[in-house]
Amino acid sequence: MISKKMQEAINEQIKNEMYSAYLYLSMSAYCTKIDLKGFANWMRVQYQEEMFHAFKMYDYLLDQDGEVKLLAIDQPPHEFQSAENVFKTTLEHERKVTAMINNIMDLAVTEKDHATNIFMQWFVTEQIEEEATAKDILQQIKLAGATPQGLFLLDRELGQRVYTPPAATAAE
Ligand code: FEO
Repeated sequence: MISKKMQEAINEQIKNEMYSAYLYLSMSAYCTKIDLKGFANWMRVQYQEEMFHAFKMYDYLLDQDGEVKLLAIDQPPHEFQSAENVFKTTLEHERKVTAMINNIMDLAVTEKDHATNIFMQWFVTEQIEEEATAKDILQQIKLAGATPQGLFLLDRELGQRVYTPPAATAAE
């Protein structure tokens, strides 16, 4: 069982995770447009990760006899000015998502909803990685991306990212 308030909060977060997916897919298209295919690949994998987050919450809500209510997803921006701005926007966005996850955690604590508390711990940990990765790549762009050669090498590195569903890894 899950409270109506918690159900609403998780439905809202399903939408937010889908918006994240939408945002990163839009960034992927932008990166392709500016000929950074490795960056585009990285963002496309990120899109898949965000969809995994959304489905993880969707499944949890159904497992708890809750009701999934899909909400309207906002249109993401499609102009990002530069690769550096793409990752600056990503880091800012992930910080907002961390605050959203923390709010759901706070609600779980207030409601003494132990199941949701345990479930949301995965996302709390995931957000540490999400922020650290975005920060790390932004830093690399600042250091190496100032020259065409540096940006080329970074693009090649980001092109190697492959989507691995978390369920198939030891972390799950
Ligand atoms: Fe679903 Fe990027 O956090």
